[in-house]
Amino acid sequence: FQPKVLEGKRVLITAGPTFEAIDPVRGITNLSSGKMGYAIARAAREAGAEVILVSGPTALPTPHGVRRVNVISARQMSEAVMDAVHGQHVFIGVAAVADWRVSNASDQKMKKQAGGETPHLEFEENPDILASVAATTSLSGWPYCVGFAAESENLVEYGAAKRERKGIPLLVGNIGHHTFGQDDNQIVLFDDDGHTVLPRADKLTLARQLICEIAKRLDKRSLL
Ligand code: C5P
Repeated sequence: FQPKVLEGKRVLITAGPTFEAIDPVRGITNLSSGKMGYAIARAAREAGAEVILVSGPTALPTPHGVRRVNVISARQMSEAVMDAVHGQHVFIGVAAVADWRVSNASDQKMKKQAGGETPHLEFEENPDILASVAATTSLSGWPYCVGFAAESENLVEYGAAKRERKGIPLLVGNIGHHTFGQDDNQIVLFDDDGHTVLPRADKLTLARQLICEIAKRLDKRSLL
């Protein structure tokens, strides 16, 4: 049983990895499976929200009743989010967006030549989607932005600092960095009041708890 705590709300979510091309058949990606983002999309839908899921390449089925927009690269993800963000009540950035893209990607497949030179890749920074959405919030007050952090050490210190740096009201930290691809997870919530650790659980249980936590904070905001 899931109370309809987000009835009438529009929620935009990013999930999965991004894939940055090196040439038409090669690229750089990461180990994100998309499971946490998809579980959150499902939980938000169950809670009555209208959900758009902007997803990098994953092998997961689209949660029931969710509108999914498929993208490959961080730039495509950024464009899809910016196209959809107007009128959204909540934005949740769960995707593991590549920090850099290859700036000298080749239009043709790169050929290996016996004894030839190894390729030299150059990198350029990708847009920070969450920070861009958070910057639009400072103008209209919407959407309420939620970010994720996967740190391998000093989570409490880095999590609080990341929340400030991104300019968002709520940041979810993954405890430990072995969550990629797993079915369960442990998370800690950072907000204005400090941090709260939720007990280890499967990703759908955590997703439902997170949706309730977000709904509580939306209610508080509309009372202010
Ligand atoms: O800075 P870092 O990548 O650790 O921040 C993680 C959070 O920022 C996640 O919520 C992720 O979805 C979001 N992010 C983003 N665009 C980027 C990098 C991260 O939206 N280019």
